[in-house]
Amino acid sequence: MGMRLRFSSISLMLLLFVLGVVLIVQVVSNDVKHNYADALSKSILFFEGQRSGRLPSSQRMKWRKDSALHDGNDIGMDLSGGYYDAGDNVKFNFPMAFTTTILSWSIIEFGKSMGSDYVHATEAVKWATDYLLKSTSIQNKVVVQVGDPWDDHNCWQRPEDMDTKRTAFAVTDKNPGSEVAGEIAAALASSSIVFKKFDPAYSQNLLQRAIQVFTFADKYRGFFNDSLGKWVCPFYCDWSGYQDELIWAAAWLYKATNQQTYWNYVVKNIPLLNDKYSGKIGEFGWDDKHAGIHVLIANDLLSKNSSGNNALAADIVVCTILPESPTKSSGIKYSPGGLLFKDMGSNMQNPTALSFLLLTYSRYLIRANKVVQCGDKTVSPQRLIEFAKGQVDYILGNNPMKMSYMVGFGNKYPKRIHHRGSSLPSIDQHPKHLGCHDGSPYFKSSKPNMNELTGAVVGGPLKDDTYPDIRSEFAQSEPTTYINAPLVGLLAYFNSPC
Ligand SMILES: *[C@@H]1O[C@H](CO)[C@@H](O)[C@H](O)[C@H]1NC(C)=O
Ligand SMILES: *[C@@H]1O[C@H](CO)[C@@H](O)[C@H](O)[C@H]1NC(C)=O
Repeated sequence: MGMRLRFSSISLMLLLFVLGVVLIVQVVSNDVKHNYADALSKSILFFEGQRSGRLPSSQRMKWRKDSALHDGNDIGMDLSGGYYDAGDNVKFNFPMAFTTTILSWSIIEFGKSMGSDYVHATEAVKWATDYLLKSTSIQNKVVVQVGDPWDDHNCWQRPEDMDTKRTAFAVTDKNPGSEVAGEIAAALASSSIVFKKFDPAYSQNLLQRAIQVFTFADKYRGFFNDSLGKWVCPFYCDWSGYQDELIWAAAWLYKATNQQTYWNYVVKNIPLLNDKYSGKIGEFGWDDKHAGIHVLIANDLLSKNSSGNNALAADIVVCTILPESPTKSSGIKYSPGGLLFKDMGSNMQNPTALSFLLLTYSRYLIRANKVVQCGDKTVSPQRLIEFAKGQVDYILGNNPMKMSYMVGFGNKYPKRIHHRGSSLPSIDQHPKHLGCHDGSPYFKSSKPNMNELTGAVVGGPLKDDTYPDIRSEFAQSEPTTYINAPLVGLLAYFNSPC
């Protein structure tokens, strides 16, 4: 009896042990429970690493220091502040404004789910809007960028000791740029909503400026490429024209003011997008605002006519993107591991921006008690949420490489990101000036970056789900502000679904 008992208790222990191992293996392989709260905090912290200008004492990413304090001096303006857009040290206002608009939209839709990170998210917006206010402080003039991009891209240098030309470029009534002015107007209008409750004076300031800049963009029409040429193209060249930015700005102004004139502007001009036929309806990023416009106004369309059964353009956006949709665009592909891909350099901006739109639209659909019909497939709002979660989970580690694409998140993540400041020793470690080419050995080194740019999400894997983690492969290894901005909203939601 005693023997038998001992035997069975040993086998019971063995059984429990085996069960335990099986359970652990299962949890690791499914790995669905990510720490979204941690990812959210880090996705916002990343923006501190991109800051230009004089850093406040509240700066948490300590290896970064003051930089580019004299920006704007060449044209008699104070243009210090704002963000470096990616791994370089140029301040490109076009993608910076888009980043700001999407950060604001993230807060407007999902701010309630941000907990203690809410305040950091609004700080991230304000770091951009303070600068955008400076960039638009002179009537009929809008600053487009600070920094000579040719000069900058020729050097591998810390922002703190840049000695490349910090030329300021602007568009004016005589040399217009409606896409960049339109996006800045959208950024100012959307951020005015963010600050409305707790800083009404600042919010009012943003809104007044948004109206002024939109009027300028609409009245003096033109492409910034025609005005500034090689200083803007091929860097953040606006391939999709300015019509989308003008409508996008008007839609945000409608949201911020509730004034019928802006709604009328949107309704009147939206047919000019002609996007159902041009294949642009599934596009959304710093260049192309088409899908974003349709989702943004869908909430108003649904609430203005809840009895209507007309398929909204936002429904077509959904059907263009979802893998199971019979009308999915051939321009949208999925890797074997499930990540959304488009044929372009830095891909990760596509899964984050489009997932943000689908998640946002799911909430509008739930409110209106609607579903989407893609051919013979019925798509529920729940499916849109599940799709967005799949993309976010891939980024955080559910992928064939079993790595996170967010720096500093999880136990395996990109170590050699294409980012000047992150790859070079910090001022604390190496106070002596590093000149234009002094950074080359660090760039070429196979060692991990010296400073962790916590929260940065990189361009991401190749189409076969592999990731090289090589600094020079910038399409894969470079982070950008507009990859992270929509992720802030997505992570807030999955941290605390509301
Ligand atoms: C920008 O302008 C140049 C010179 O006029 C032109 O060759 C190029 O096609 C333009 N690019 C775009 C995207 O409009
Ligand atoms: C509301 O929707 C119905 C049905 O789709 C349509 O016939 C009607 O014109 C719409 N009304 C407005 C005000 O848009």
